[in-house]
Amino acid sequence: MYQEHAECGKLPELLQRLGEDLTNYLRFEHPDAMCNEESWKTALGGPLPDQGIGCEQLLDIIGQHLIPNGSQVPKPGCTSFITTGATSIGVLATLSGVVAAPQRVGLTAFNYLEELSLQWMAEMFALPSTMKGIYSSGGSVANLVALGAARQWAFERLGLNPAENGVQKPCRIYASSACHRTIHRAAAVLGMGRSAVITIATDNNGRLCPNALRRQLQADANTGFVPVAVVANAGTTNTGAIDPLREIAEIAAAYQIWFHVDGAYGLPGILDPRIRPLYEGLSLADSVIVDPHKWLGAPVGIGATYVRDRSILNRAFSQGAADYLEGACHDDNIQNSMLSMGVPYHDFGVELSAPSRGAVVWALIREIGKTGMRERICRHNDMARLVADLARKHPALEVVQEPTLSICCFRYVSDKVQNLNDLNKQIHRHLVQDGRCIPSTTILNGILVIRPCFVGARTTEQHARELVDAVVETGNNLLRDMHPTT
Ligand SMILES: Cc1ncc(COP(=O)(O)O)c(C=O)c1O
Repeated sequence: MYQEHAECGKLPELLQRLGEDLTNYLRFEHPDAMCNEESWKTALGGPLPDQGIGCEQLLDIIGQHLIPNGSQVPKPGCTSFITTGATSIGVLATLSGVVAAPQRVGLTAFNYLEELSLQWMAEMFALPSTMKGIYSSGGSVANLVALGAARQWAFERLGLNPAENGVQKPCRIYASSACHRTIHRAAAVLGMGRSAVITIATDNNGRLCPNALRRQLQADANTGFVPVAVVANAGTTNTGAIDPLREIAEIAAAYQIWFHVDGAYGLPGILDPRIRPLYEGLSLADSVIVDPHKWLGAPVGIGATYVRDRSILNRAFSQGAADYLEGACHDDNIQNSMLSMGVPYHDFGVELSAPSRGAVVWALIREIGKTGMRERICRHNDMARLVADLARKHPALEVVQEPTLSICCFRYVSDKVQNLNDLNKQIHRHLVQDGRCIPSTTILNGILVIRPCFVGARTTEQHARELVDAVVETGNNLLRDMHPTT
């Protein structure tokens, strides 16, 4: 019979083996998972096992068939997603939490770091010191929690309690056409409906137009809608645009509407002194989100929501007393049958069971400090500027959107081709198949562009240069195939 409890003593040896397999993976010398799907599905699949094979044999399979067929996201040349490969300390701190504090609650060092790391991030990103936060699984839930707070605030002002009685009036949330679609989903989950999100026009740089917002609010005044939030972006997903925060904040204040800033990707950009002025007005936000699992290099599964007054999160999300814990926690000093729950995060958001994420963020910051973070952000912003520079100087390339942060939107151009969108789509297909440089594409005003987003801690300037070369070379080859005589 397989002895589960006996595995614990072998952990150091097993971890060493796993460490070697992961290190090999990060060399990216293996074929990509997309090339040999049949083989790894055969090795990993099969019917429900009746008998177990034990930890060591399983680790062989993990090393041979699972890890080598993982994702391309951690590749330094992969710039398609805003999430990236976790840094080593992020991995190690996560593992520490998985073993030593599987739940964030309880009076533990992990629970303490949950709060401390939120404070450190708030300070690092120049949020008001009174703002308090809560971690969740990422930007989607972080936006949901922020808009839940906004909904609570808007309805409480009318003497209603949406957390208790539901949404009893039609709502409106104002966000730019460049906002992340998780805003719409949050509106749906919170009972306001996707159609509650009113799209406000952007300018040519993808920034919300304050005048358009003003006009919409004016038109909606006295129409019976509950204005729940104005949402601004501090770094859009598509281009990294930063909305004019101060102007938007002032409009929201004039209409007494909650002001939410989605900085899931771009909030850390405030560390770059060249860009910092664009964040002017951030301190006026009622809620802000940021994703440590994006630019900070945390393993995926960590987002943070900040609000001015955390008691509103409690009113919006408290789950009520649990008999077996002698009641839910309504302040930071609660005692219960487990002696202490530490900070009661489970009553400030939508998760009860949740991993210790604060220790990971604490470790990421502790490892390289604010200075190291700033250097990383500046380095990545430089890479986007380098791509723009190289593209500007190359006759076959065009910069479609100048970078604000670490995204550069550019494309291959040729007067021999009518459908440049199709050509750039093909270039992208080739890059993905080749697998060394993997940007994404996006559409800007009908133009399909190549869109690298530099956030990976292991990505270097060389990767940025290689991407530009690869786009030119692939475009030239495709053009030659289309016009063999040229
Ligand atoms: C601006 C913005 N907000 C929210 C999200 C959603 O974040 P997540 O994927 O962590 O749920 C993203 C994801 O890229 C984003 O870029």
